[in-house]
Amino acid sequence: MAERIAEEKINEIRQAVDIVEVISDYVQLKKQGRNYFGLCPFHGENTPSFSVSSDKQIFHCFGCGAGGNVFSFLMELEGYSFQETAVMLAKKANIELDLPSSSFSKESSVPNDFQLMVEAHDLLRKFYHHLLVNTKDGQHALEYLLNRGFTLEAIEKFQIGYALNSWDFVFKFLSKRNYQPAILEKAGLIIKREKDGSYFDRFRDRIMFPILDAKGNTVAFSGRSLGAGEPKYLNSPETAIFNKSKILYNFHLARAAIRKSRQMVLFEGFADCIAANRAGIENGVATMGTSLTDDHVVLIRRNAESVTICYDSDNAGIEAAYRAATLLTESGTQVKIAVMPDGNDPDDYIKKYGTDKFNHEVIGSSLTFMAFKLLYLKRGKDLQNEGNRLQYIEEVLREISQLDKAVERDHYLRQLASEFSISLEALKEQQKQIYYANRKNNRGKQASGLNQSFVPQKSAEPLRPAFHNAERRLISYMMRDPNIAYKVQDMLNGHPFNVDEHQAIITYLYGYYEKGMEPDPSQFINFLEDDHLRRIVANIEMMSISEELTEQELSDYIKQVLNHQKMLKIKEKEAEEKEAERQKDFIKAAQIAMEIIQLRKSLKT
Ligand code: CTP
Ligand code: MN
Repeated sequence: MAERIAEEKINEIRQAVDIVEVISDYVQLKKQGRNYFGLCPFHGENTPSFSVSSDKQIFHCFGCGAGGNVFSFLMELEGYSFQETAVMLAKKANIELDLPSSSFSKESSVPNDFQLMVEAHDLLRKFYHHLLVNTKDGQHALEYLLNRGFTLEAIEKFQIGYALNSWDFVFKFLSKRNYQPAILEKAGLIIKREKDGSYFDRFRDRIMFPILDAKGNTVAFSGRSLGAGEPKYLNSPETAIFNKSKILYNFHLARAAIRKSRQMVLFEGFADCIAANRAGIENGVATMGTSLTDDHVVLIRRNAESVTICYDSDNAGIEAAYRAATLLTESGTQVKIAVMPDGNDPDDYIKKYGTDKFNHEVIGSSLTFMAFKLLYLKRGKDLQNEGNRLQYIEEVLREISQLDKAVERDHYLRQLASEFSISLEALKEQQKQIYYANRKNNRGKQASGLNQSFVPQKSAEPLRPAFHNAERRLISYMMRDPNIAYKVQDMLNGHPFNVDEHQAIITYLYGYYEKGMEPDPSQFINFLEDDHLRRIVANIEMMSISEELTEQELSDYIKQVLNHQKMLKIKEKEAEEKEAERQKDFIKAAQIAMEIIQLRKSLKT
């Protein structure tokens, strides 16, 4: 392992940053009492069960059990190493941090496969871009892009490039720089020939769109054919560094704008994302030729409160938009849907009508999900036909019944009434019937994620036996005061805590105090090396309430810890007693019965 950063430095950093501020970059937090609450970034949820304590500088999720301090938060969420986290936080706090030379991923003396694959991609990205912009070989590709309306500025910003029409350019280029073929193959950049084991380049004579991960590493490419060549887009395969169902194109560049506005625009293709950027849409991202996945939804929800879906307006696009809107709504994200005239995609639209019109008439006039559903349900129906018309009305009433807000229901009922010249009363009546019929069917099911009030959830805490709670209470006091910790040690007189994790935590805690450390939950969490233990500590800290520990409480808790072991012993003895009776060894049974009485007696004292 690399050299460690000095502990004092870590503490200096830890004290200089505020966990609430750091987490606020990822989660929208609201203050409630002493703590802050928000939607947990580690699992999908609609009601906030994620809490952050500014006093204790720790976080904990009552829903999924995630918990720790500012370091573990960033390590878990961003996948940073401890040192990377330290570097990042030091930067944030303006603290100078001289790293031991071999500590940061890029300078690491023995780069791992992951780093090599990213490096190879980064190198190629630069070279492909150079070929496109500065060379004769790339000229026809550049002309193609300019003809399509790509600007030089966009080509620069999105680092678009060109892959030469060669079977082994990449192979030679990277081999010369000491990248092993096996690594390049794993990275999806070259392909092995079955017959002789030689290699050839995956991308040839294509416009190259680099795909960056959230940290700005180039992890894949998508290559577009210049003419009608098939496939239109050739993508990198799934690799250790590229997972299509998790990545959003342009998230890296869009992040700041998304965080600021808590809004995001979602496109189907990256050509659309790039064209929209010309129209000033900085918070646009695109999926990579897959439909929206649960992982995407979690990523989106973590960063934005509202999303405008701007998909193609062909049939497939409308279906995909409907599906994406449903998923996002279920996750508690506000959804809007931008629609364009028939058959266009955003890129075509901008080319035809310009950026202003796109901003006003597409993005600016986007529909609520409900309004979109009204259009969606009309497709394929002839509303002049009475049967079709009644079916449409019924379907719309079903949707209206799902709306939580009376004002909204009223709004759409009126719209429907006027559109089809039906009495509002009749529509209301029928809508109520649908609503009650639905409620009967879904009894117990929760309402949709829309318009959830911001009430922290506490229900996920399990019921624990008394001894378990006693140990948790003790740990909480022991973390607050070394004197109590040592007193407990004396009183237990060598008996361990019953819950293994609790015993592990207090063992660490004694070690922590032995080193002369002050009580501080966040610092103690850094001291724990096991993530599972960190979570338990964060949970105990978040749950602890009373401030003073009386002698009486202390001895009650100790008694519960010790009694549990005696109770187990009694159970064991009772089984032995039964067994002795079964074997008709009544003397032995009587002896055991006496022991049980003794044990029972000792329980009370
Ligand atoms: N896609 C893909 N493979 C294909 C076709 C499409 O991976 N053979 C993905 C790409 O990510 C593309 C998205 O699906 O960005 C949308 O496809 P499409 O609408 O066909 O492409 P456009 O974005 O319109 O691209 P262009 O304007 O260049 O035709
Ligand atoms: Mn297009």
